[in-house]
Amino acid sequence: ERLEAARGPLLSWYQGNKRDLPWRENQDAYRIWISEIMLQQTRVEAVKPYFARFMECFPTVQALAECEEEELFKYWEGLGYYSRARNLKKAAKIIVSQYGGELPADHRALLALPGIGSYTAGAIGSIAFGLPVPAVDGNVMRVLSRVAGSYEDILKQAVKKKTEAAVEEVLKTLKKDEPGDFNQALIETGAIVCVPNGAPLCDLPCPFYTVCEARKRNLISAIPVKAPK
Ligand code: ADE
Repeated sequence: ERLEAARGPLLSWYQGNKRDLPWRENQDAYRIWISEIMLQQTRVEAVKPYFARFMECFPTVQALAECEEEELFKYWEGLGYYSRARNLKKAAKIIVSQYGGELPADHRALLALPGIGSYTAGAIGSIAFGLPVPAVDGNVMRVLSRVAGSYEDILKQAVKKKTEAAVEEVLKTLKKDEPGDFNQALIETGAIVCVPNGAPLCDLPCPFYTVCEARKRNLISAIPVKAPK
């Protein structure tokens, strides 16, 4: 299918076009975890300075597990959604007590940690550990519904599940170190090229240029469909 056909172009596009981001310097699972939690509700540019300060103050899972909540909130101030910070500390304690201070390289174990849902477990699992698990958020849904030319409502859980299953099928065909790049390539396409509000920059270039149904049929402003809840 389409996604499978775009596998090669997508991975090479990513190598040539990925942004230089602090959490992409290495595959340290702790750094990737913290960055993904910050990125859940905050834009990349806004996250950068918070990420740097946070890593300086809490460089390890242990440091986070043992910190004072008040100190933690000080470093979170301005990011909002403080439940994210509270969950980080809760999860850090579990990681220290149950996993010897290392994030578990297991999708189910990641999903069981406070603050980690299906998208974040997929991102950490694939980027830090190379697991073939999908990381599909609203941005990835927008990209893939345009590529497929699908009018299905991307806010529907069933539509998301189907998309995750399709991504997972392709991830299984990749080499051991590629799932993290594949998932991040989808994220990156949504951030750089296939931007929201009906104005994608298809000529930038886009890794899906030749296979994208929405572009071919001139449907880019009609897709994605998001029915009012
Ligand atoms: N948004 C969520 N996860 C991201 C990542 N790993 N890189 C860039 N933007 C993101």
